[in-house]
Amino acid sequence: MIFDCSTMSAATLYPLLAGTIVPRPIAWVSTVDAAGRSNLAPFSFFQLVSDQPPTLMISVNRKSDGRAKDTSVNISATSQLVVHLVSPSELALMNASAADFAAGDSEISALNIATVAATMVKPPRLAASLVSFECELVSLTPYPAAAPSCDIVLAKVVCLHIDDSLLGPDQRLKHDQIDWLARLGGQWYSHSQQPDNFQLARPATAELAVAALTKSESSE
Ligand SMILES: Cc1cc2nc3c(=O)[nH]c(=O)nc-3n(C[C@H](O)[C@H](O)[C@H](O)COP(=O)(O)O)c2cc1C
Repeated sequence: MIFDCSTMSAATLYPLLAGTIVPRPIAWVSTVDAAGRSNLAPFSFFQLVSDQPPTLMISVNRKSDGRAKDTSVNISATSQLVVHLVSPSELALMNASAADFAAGDSEISALNIATVAATMVKPPRLAASLVSFECELVSLTPYPAAAPSCDIVLAKVVCLHIDDSLLGPDQRLKHDQIDWLARLGGQWYSHSQQPDNFQLARPATAELAVAALTKSESSE
């Protein structure tokens, strides 16, 4: 079936896009408002977009009446955020923090989530988080400009926290210990440690890539 996006409503398009571009990592984002009150919410329209400089992207949808969500409002006001990755044990808290709390009401306080001061920015860091990124705003772009449906946030990572349990010798990550929740379509979730995860080296040259494929085809 071919879908012409120009003829489709947002309600029809969203589940087809968000349900096929999966799994998506979840950014659990803490911010503070201009008065210093904290806010926490999850976002799965989230990616690493550059490592030099280290830059993350989060897309925060507008509410149905076009108003910005608290996360967007706070980032506009203070230019800072902390992005946490979410362990499976944090599923219930992460989901609860997505509820529609009134502006200024802290999800962190309401849900009794322990925090510690961040090192370089004002928003608090979640104490139990195994990996978090302290970030400064690069740009917040209402998109599309004429009638924004979201605010696209580019954020520069200024400080990276990685729990020692995830690091081996030479500060290398223990890839088989990294387990984050991820968003699938509908109400489905997944997480990164799966029994059939595997390793694969990239071909060193184009010739080796072709030769390896030819060899595997002839042995089938
Ligand atoms: C797993 C998960 C992923 C979500 N991803 C997004 C997202 O990518 N963009 C978005 O605008 N809202 C997303 N939401 C909904 C927001 O978390 C929700 O609207 C929240 O109330 C926003 O909080 P705020 O107003 O404090 O910023 C997601 C919710 C969940 C549970």
